[in-house]
Amino acid sequence: CGIVGYVGRQDAVPLLIEGLQRLEYRGYDSAGVAAVKNGTLRVAKAEGKVRDLLDGLPKKVAGPIGIGHTRWATHGPPSDLNAHPHVDADEHVAVVHNGILENADSLRAELEREGVEFLSDTDTEILAHLVGRSTQPELEDKVREALRRVQGAYGIAVIDTRTPDRIVVARNGSPVVLGIGNREMLVASDVAALVKHVQQVVFLDDGEMAVLTADGFTTSTLDRKKTDKEPQEIEGDVEDYEKGGYEHYLRKEIADQPQAVAGTLRGRLDERFATAHLGGIELSARDLRTIRRVKILGCGSAYYSGIVGAELIESLARLPADAEPASEFRYRNPVIDPDTLYLAVSQSGETFDTLAAVHEVQRKGGRVLGVVNVVGSSIARACEGGIYLHAGPEVSVASTKAFNASVVAFALLALHLGRVRDLSPADGKRLITGLERLPDQIATVLEDEEVVRQAAQRFADAPSAFYIGRVRGYPIALEGAQKLKELSYVHAEAYPASELKHGPLALISPEMPTVVIAPDDHLIDKNRSAMEQIKARGGPVVAVGHSPFAGLADETLIVPKNEPELDSVLLGVPLQLLAYHASMLLGRDVDQPRNLAKSVTVE
Ligand code: G6P
Repeated sequence: CGIVGYVGRQDAVPLLIEGLQRLEYRGYDSAGVAAVKNGTLRVAKAEGKVRDLLDGLPKKVAGPIGIGHTRWATHGPPSDLNAHPHVDADEHVAVVHNGILENADSLRAELEREGVEFLSDTDTEILAHLVGRSTQPELEDKVREALRRVQGAYGIAVIDTRTPDRIVVARNGSPVVLGIGNREMLVASDVAALVKHVQQVVFLDDGEMAVLTADGFTTSTLDRKKTDKEPQEIEGDVEDYEKGGYEHYLRKEIADQPQAVAGTLRGRLDERFATAHLGGIELSARDLRTIRRVKILGCGSAYYSGIVGAELIESLARLPADAEPASEFRYRNPVIDPDTLYLAVSQSGETFDTLAAVHEVQRKGGRVLGVVNVVGSSIARACEGGIYLHAGPEVSVASTKAFNASVVAFALLALHLGRVRDLSPADGKRLITGLERLPDQIATVLEDEEVVRQAAQRFADAPSAFYIGRVRGYPIALEGAQKLKELSYVHAEAYPASELKHGPLALISPEMPTVVIAPDDHLIDKNRSAMEQIKARGGPVVAVGHSPFAGLADETLIVPKNEPELDSVLLGVPLQLLAYHASMLLGRDVDQPRNLAKSVTVE
């Protein structure tokens, strides 16, 4: 979900709507705004996109102070009533909230016993009533009192007609960023909504709250201790958050990849010593040599990039390495080993499951570094250091450039770890040359879009598809299948090519295309025989590799060759385009696929 707030001299509502549109990728099943003018609170909400809210927005919803929300449903289905802001019984207080309150059922029952009538199914409405019923004189103390009663995660913004000059915000587990303007203040769950209006921002910490007025802000802890916050400059500018001439963010972000990867590499390659410099990792060569294992944690595409990363680290640094979904890891009481280096990978740096996994490792005395795109995000701040991707903002829900930038960040780490262990200077140099070639090679892959577009027809018509690959190709198959599912809603399943004959071959038919990741490496013959097995059963084959597969593949998407360790980056790019075109052919919502959200800041 996304929250936004404004207090200043302008009409808040157009600013809130614009901010919500920039946050829409965080959730988009309903949206709403509330504003106070002349002591009266007015609220407008609508199921659907921010556009639907705007279309039906009454003029009287206006005023110099307001809050807004775009929702990804957790408690209660998407509907006008369940959309935020939520209001107390006397219509003084309005609240927007990200996160989930764990003791919502008992608090709701208690309030109902006291005669409160609820209008929605949401946990957020509880907060509105608790704040509204508080007898504390100041809004900040009303909010404090309410928050003391709730358990769970929240990022909230609250306004009250009785103190119409201020917004009170608080954070516990869900991001809240203050934007410092000229005699105006903004707040949002993410800088994307602020970048057009302010240059300086302040990130709240968990357990912190802030009071915003047109003239500035104060911050304190929930138990009233003042805190000192240092404003930070925003990275990038408003254009980085726009579509830049493309029809969709997704397509623009695919096209951004040469620059994104160059951003990850910038200033980090050391040709002289054939290694990588990673300024965010303050571990000496001696510290790094004490590491015995590496474990990578992430969710969704970030997890898949972690599988690629683990293979890179294992093969280049000869350290046992694996990746695991952060969402599973945190619940299975994992053994935390002091000699293991844990890495948390996340584009947004806000994925709740990944953050919780970081905390679980740290609780048990483990060391976690982040591989994160968004500077200053929760995961970046929770980790002991790490590698920023510097890939630029990624707005479309499905990850593309951040996936490849993460792979490149892992390659840099593998190079660095390798060079303090047994990787030779010659191999180090070979990889550096390979890494330097990647941006141009990605640009070359992007030139071949027409071939991919034609191949996409096959997938748009199919009920289901397989993606197969071996060793390094397998995570690329996983990520390729993920893209097709997310973007086109066509069912796709990834399998290690070696496992095909142990079950899935039963499903091969002329209706079911298979994408085979078949780079020109020591496994090419194995991949050829997988193609043969599929062909023999009448299954269409689309190969992704370095040269054509005459007689075996119905289509081949050819990419330039790099070093075998780095080929994954290039092999994945046509699969992003394939999913994009399948999505376009089927008329799907490319940037905001149904039921998904870009950063899942709830469990
Ligand atoms: C959500 C998104 C995915 C993304 C995953 C992890 O599920 O829909 O596209 O890969 O979260 O996000 P992160 O920001 O942690 O990389």
